Amino acid sequence: RILILDFGSQYSQLIARRVREAGVYSEMYAYDMSDDDIRAFAPSGIILSGGPESTTVEGSPRAPDVVFNLGVPVLGICYGMQTMAMQLGGDVQSSDFQEFGRADVIHEFPDRLFAGIEDEPKKLRVWMSHGDKVVKLPEGFQISASTPSCPIAAMSDETRNFYGVQFHPEVTHTLQGEALISRFVHGICGCGNLWTPEHIIDLRVEQLREQIAEEKVLLGLSGGVDSSVVAALLHKAIGDQLTCVFVDNGLLRLHEGDQVMQMFAENMGIRVIRADAEQRFLTALAGEADPEKKRKIIGREFIEVFTEEARKLEGVKFLAQGTIYPDVIESAATKHGKAHVIKSHHNVGGLPDDLAFDLVEPLRDLFKDEVRKLGTTLGLPHSMIYRHPFPGPGLGVRILGEVKKEYADILRRADDIFMQELRASGWYDKTAQAFAVFQPVKSVGVVGDGRRYAWVIALRAVETVDFMTARFAHLPYDLVETISNRIMNEIKEVSRVVYDVSSKPPATIEWE
Ligand code: XMP
Repeated sequence: RILILDFGSQYSQLIARRVREAGVYSEMYAYDMSDDDIRAFAPSGIILSGGPESTTVEGSPRAPDVVFNLGVPVLGICYGMQTMAMQLGGDVQSSDFQEFGRADVIHEFPDRLFAGIEDEPKKLRVWMSHGDKVVKLPEGFQISASTPSCPIAAMSDETRNFYGVQFHPEVTHTLQGEALISRFVHGICGCGNLWTPEHIIDLRVEQLREQIAEEKVLLGLSGGVDSSVVAALLHKAIGDQLTCVFVDNGLLRLHEGDQVMQMFAENMGIRVIRADAEQRFLTALAGEADPEKKRKIIGREFIEVFTEEARKLEGVKFLAQGTIYPDVIESAATKHGKAHVIKSHHNVGGLPDDLAFDLVEPLRDLFKDEVRKLGTTLGLPHSMIYRHPFPGPGLGVRILGEVKKEYADILRRADDIFMQELRASGWYDKTAQAFAVFQPVKSVGVVGDGRRYAWVIALRAVETVDFMTARFAHLPYDLVETISNRIMNEIKEVSRVVYDVSSKPPATIEWE
């Protein structure tokens, strides 16, 4: 396994993902991890990440000395290379010239990291992002690659297996980045290709059986990717000791509740209790138009319904949650982006104190793409694994203002038509999230010889990677036309359809 020490680069998480994609388990910790913890981790190799600081500044972060004394290979990336140089007796200089973006590096000396890896003879197209650079090699090192503006773009000491690269192999703009990372973890660190979905599942099943033994486990199943994969995994590990509670709040998409029951209860034979709470949620939401208050009401009702169902069950010791690794890293990030204090991230927070469970979080160290691969390997359908995200408050934040059943029913039908057409045209997978929004305003239309005075539906589709920023999807006009015609023709309560052309920021993805 590979240890990644994080100096706060925006790309640090990517390093961990790339290493795992190469089939090797990796974990990321803050750069100031204690010597004991580093030894206890027993890494086969260590990667030092990039970071925003300058090694030339007094008191800037350094790798613990034990990193260079363990006798395992070390790869320093950007800041990681610079601190390696400083700590081993080389030197780094701040320069006014900053290099960002694409660059070609030339191999000077084909060391074990680079040998045979090239885009053109002796040339690599890489992604640079740095101000400082190494200007003096530490004792025992050689230059392995250079660019005109950065003569020491990569360095190595093959005797000790220390490697430094000024560029970022973890970003896809470095064309051979994957090959370089694979070379480091397999060729240099000697790690096997063991981190595969099949292997992860076997490992998890074994760990879950050991942790849970004969006890009972409760899982809040939402039908989203993470809780679905947890359900499938736990079912495989402990069978009937698992009970799922699925809260149908009446704010789900068309037929969603039935589909969840069919897949998990009927097809997979998992015990799922469906709490039909539509009326209860609608009653609690009646008369409330404020978005934040609506969210709170929905959250509170969810906890109450879930708690009531949980109390009906006897002798449950564990609560399972679909926490994933980015949740863990994010809730631990401090101002340096350090994975410092690992706090537990509670998806089902706010349960009453007397309902105390131990937590089971089998996806806690996995990235979303790993969770998806696990789900596929466990036999969950593609349509569920690659589903767009759906917010906890559901249609509650897609019906503007007061929520009414009438509105929810109209919205569900419109949204379903939108999704059918996106899937049929191949646009579902090209957008990150798409949905319809109910506008509680009436607009005039004409149908045949008659006047129609009915509701407005907005269509929202976005492209985004991180959901922090998003661009409205440039759906083809023909497709938008088909969708809008179908919605107005098939749903007589709708007289107008509009397409949302706002990007985030300044708009958010959801309308409330
Ligand atoms: P916004 O609207 O903030 O949405 O641009 C970003 C992403 O977060 C989802 N979202 C939520 N998810 N509970 C959730 O579980 C919420 O209250 C919530 N609000 C927004 C939204 O669907 C989008 O993917």
